[in-house]
This record gives sequence, C-alpha cells and structure tokens, in this order.
Amino acid sequence: MSQEISTEQIAEEINHRRTFAIISHPDAGKTTLTEKLLLYGNAIHMAGNVRARRNQKNTVSDWMKMERERGISITSTVMQFPYKGHVVNLLDTPGHQDFSEDTYRTLMAADCAVMVLDAAKGVEPQTRKLFEVCKQRGIPVFTFINKMDRPALDALELLDEVETVLGMQPVPMNWPIGDGDSFIGVFDRKKEEVFLYDRTVRNQSISPETMTTLDDPRIEETLSAYQFEDLHTNIALLDELAQFDFDALMAGEQTAVYFGSALTNFGVQLFLDDFIQYAPEPASYEADKGIVEAEEPTFSGFVFKIQANMNPKHRDSVAYLRICSGRFERNMQVNHTRTGKTLRLSRPYAFFADSRAVVEEAYAGDIIGLPGNKLYTIGDTLTGKGQFKFKSIPRFSPEHFSRLINRDIVKQKQFLKGLQQLETEGAMQVFYEADAFRRDPILAVVGVLQFEVVQARLQDEYGVETRLERLPHQLSRWVDGPEDQIAQLPWRYGILRAQDNEGRLVALFSSPHELEYYAGKYADIQFRDTVN
Ligand code: G4P
Repeated sequence: MSQEISTEQIAEEINHRRTFAIISHPDAGKTTLTEKLLLYGNAIHMAGNVRARRNQKNTVSDWMKMERERGISITSTVMQFPYKGHVVNLLDTPGHQDFSEDTYRTLMAADCAVMVLDAAKGVEPQTRKLFEVCKQRGIPVFTFINKMDRPALDALELLDEVETVLGMQPVPMNWPIGDGDSFIGVFDRKKEEVFLYDRTVRNQSISPETMTTLDDPRIEETLSAYQFEDLHTNIALLDELAQFDFDALMAGEQTAVYFGSALTNFGVQLFLDDFIQYAPEPASYEADKGIVEAEEPTFSGFVFKIQANMNPKHRDSVAYLRICSGRFERNMQVNHTRTGKTLRLSRPYAFFADSRAVVEEAYAGDIIGLPGNKLYTIGDTLTGKGQFKFKSIPRFSPEHFSRLINRDIVKQKQFLKGLQQLETEGAMQVFYEADAFRRDPILAVVGVLQFEVVQARLQDEYGVETRLERLPHQLSRWVDGPEDQIAQLPWRYGILRAQDNEGRLVALFSSPHELEYYAGKYADIQFRDTVN
C-alpha cells in the first residue's frame, strides 16, 4: 500500500543521493577501487570479495568472462551502498579491452564520473574514449590516481598529462608523499594535514590513517633529500597553480584529483569523504515537455541498458531504469510512453554489491531493474503521471563493421527476428548497404567482442548459425546536407553508402584521414558521430 510521504521528504531523500560511473583503462585498478568503496560503505565485509567472485566467474563488478563464455551481453552493473548518510549508486563500466555501446550509455545514467588512472601509466586510450563521453555530457569528473605504492610517474607530469590530453584543469585535492616503497601518505590541501598510512595493515581491512603535519620527522626520514625538497617545493607551487573551484568542477572545466593506492587501502576513505561532499545531487534531465527536475515528486525515468540472459536457463532480461524524478514505489502504475500502455511494476530490483533484491521504494538518482522480456527498449520513458519522453540516448558511432551472413536461408525469419531483438536491446547497430543488390546486414559495433556476442546469441536463442565477413572500414558517420554535394562523395571508391534502421544515410570510411579530407572538402555536409 502506498505510504504517504511529503514533498520535502522526497526532496531530502533525493538530495542525499550520489550516482556515478567509474571509468578506467583495463588494469588501472577499477575493480580494486570499487571493492574498497564497497568496503567503506559496509556493503561487503572483506576485501577480496569482488575479485574472488570475479575469479569464480560470477563477479559483481566485472562480468567479462561470463559474457565471453555464454555470449551474452552482460556488461556494466550497478551497485548501491550507503555512506555517511548518503545513498551512493555506483555504475560500473566493463573493465576489459573491449568496448560496447553499453559502456557509453551507462554514462548517460550517471551524474558524475570517477576516473581511475594508473600512476605509472597516466592517461591511457580507453580512459580517453570514456572521458570524451563524459565531456559531451558535461558531467563532473573526479580523478583517482591509483597504485602510488608502486613506482609512479612524477605527480606534476601526471597532472600535466591530464590537462593536455583531456583538456580539463586538474586540481590536486591531496598531494602524494613519495611513491613506490617511499610512499607514506598524502598531504591534504584543504585540511593542511598529512595522512600517513600504515603499511602493516595492508589490504586486509579498513586501515586507520594517522593525521600529522608536514614537519613530522617520519616524512624526512622516509624520503630522500631530493624527494623531501621536491615535496615542499611542489606544495608551495600548487597554491599558485591550481585552486579548487566547485563551480568549475561542476562545469567539467576542472577535475578534482586524489592520489592513493586502492590495493593497500590508502586514500580511499579520504576520497570518498570528499566525493560525497562535492559530487552533484541527481541532475535534471531534458524531456520533450521541458526539463524534468529530480525533486519533482512525481516518478519518471528512462531505460539506459538491457541486460539479457542474466540467467540463461530462464531467458530473462532486465531493463535498467535511471529514476530521473520523484519517488518510485513497488506496485505503482506507470505510463510506458512509447507504447501508451499502463504497466504495474510489481517486481522491481535494487542492486547491491553481491545481490539483487525486490525494492519497495526508490528515488531520483537510483537505478532499478525491471524484469520484462521484450517489453522495454533502450531509451524508453516511464512516467508516474502524464505522457512525455526523455531526450533519446544518442547512438554512438561504431568503429568495427562486418557483414553478417545467415548460413541457413530456411531460418531467415528467425535470423531477422533475432537481429531485430538484439538491436532493440542495444547489442549492436544494424546497417544495410544502400541501393545495393546485397542485403546482408552490416553489424556495426563499438568493440569487436560484440560480434561474438551477437553470433553466439543468435545461435543460442534463435538457432541461427551465421558467418561474419569483416569490412575494412574504420568509422562511420551519419550524413546530412545538400543532396548534390552528398552525391559527389566517392561512394563505391572507398566510402560505403549505408542506411540505419530508420533510413538515415550513413557513410562508412576507411580511415579517419579519409573522413577528414571529405569533411574539409565539403564544408556544407555534416558528418555526425552521434545521432539522437
Ligand atoms: P581493472 O578493474 O581496472 O582492470 O583493475 P583491477 O582492479 O583488476 O587491478 C588490476 C591489477 O592491479 C590487479 O593485479 C590489482 O591487484 C592491481 N592493483 C589495483 N590497485 C592497485 C594498487 O593500488 N597498487 C598496486 N600495487 N596494485 C594494484 P593483478 O595481478 O592483475 O590481479 P590480482 O592478482 O591482484 O588479482
């Protein structure tokens, strides 16, 4: 039964929510940091939990092996944990070498991102790609420079790289004291205190951090004369170089930087304490009726991800819904804008570190899972009142292309049905060569692993065996502009003319250089890398 709750109480609940995506290049330490965040949030009780589960191929935060073995699209997961009066929603993005559009879409449901960098490697390629999406969305980015217990690049050099490669001003909130074996803690700029960490506690549990000042003799004892002098020079320099500006962080012009070591448990709590203070409250979202504010008491949300076959035996699928406004209650009736249907949501899930459970209520900022095979598609809006639609989730420009050939023409119907379903779930995009005799669909994906996923799922779920024919193209753009100019593009000679499922013209290019050349030559043609 519905429990009465005042508008103020709803707003209060919402203001305490923090919803973020964690991004990194593989191996930078995202799983380890996630685990430690959960540990501080009391969501798990022992370090090693997430990793151990991963090794059992059943991890909470990294489903890669399952995905590969079963050919299913389990990619990013959601975890909720409480921390100091806040409710934190962590959206994991897959940590493997391969990317899917899903990774990008997850960022659509987050209000900010935490970027994990390896202190010895700096900004790596996948971080850059993910970061670009954060930038497009204009969400604040926090940076955790991890593995300071290992020999690291010079801290100033790391900051310089963040600034030049990512184009945002890095503002160190703390400063590392030493690195590798000499790493003994960080200087907190705001508190003007030094936090020393106890190496003996290592990564077993939450480690106590000792607070002291910069003139603590232990610092001079541990560091070399050169490091010691450098530390003081740098700290003095920082005040001139980079001052934290909350508005600039919110605007994505600055990133707040923290140094630490997730494995040895150092700097995680310092980071988390700051994070809940500075991370934004659930943001407003744009809809066709105008802006929807999170604090509006009426429930609304959109589907940003569909996870099929969480349990292959049951062929189930779960739609992940980001709540954009108000309060959600189990059993509530909602409008499904796309179909005009009224739905009763009786089995919504909330996701925790190692389980999912039926949820009775949830608020803007939270992510809930809705079972319902084939009922939802990416971008669907659900509303408690009225019929409106959130701005659609952009389609991201794929980078790998293959023709998909059905090996058994008798199964053509299943083949097309399967393809359509997988596209609806957002597993890949399907293009068709325009005006061509060949009608084999062209699968377009952001990461090559998706080819395997699509083939395996077609086989498992629709009994259709397929063959792939890789195309040499490297990128595609949606093309718009004057017809006569478009006609002059060298279709056939390199550029492949295709259409997406809505009949929009798509050009497949063989290299970024080729695109650049034609974009320069035909300034009136728009080559878009995302469409709505
Ligand atoms: P990912 O999710 O970003 O891919 O990274 P993950 O946390 O799996 O970490 C990758 C490797 O880096 C792991 O080692 C992990 O233990 C190590 N690591 C993570 N954080 C730190 C840190 O702060 N300091 C140090 N020294 N190492 C760290 P592995 O050998 O690949 O795995 P495992 O044998 O530890 O399980």
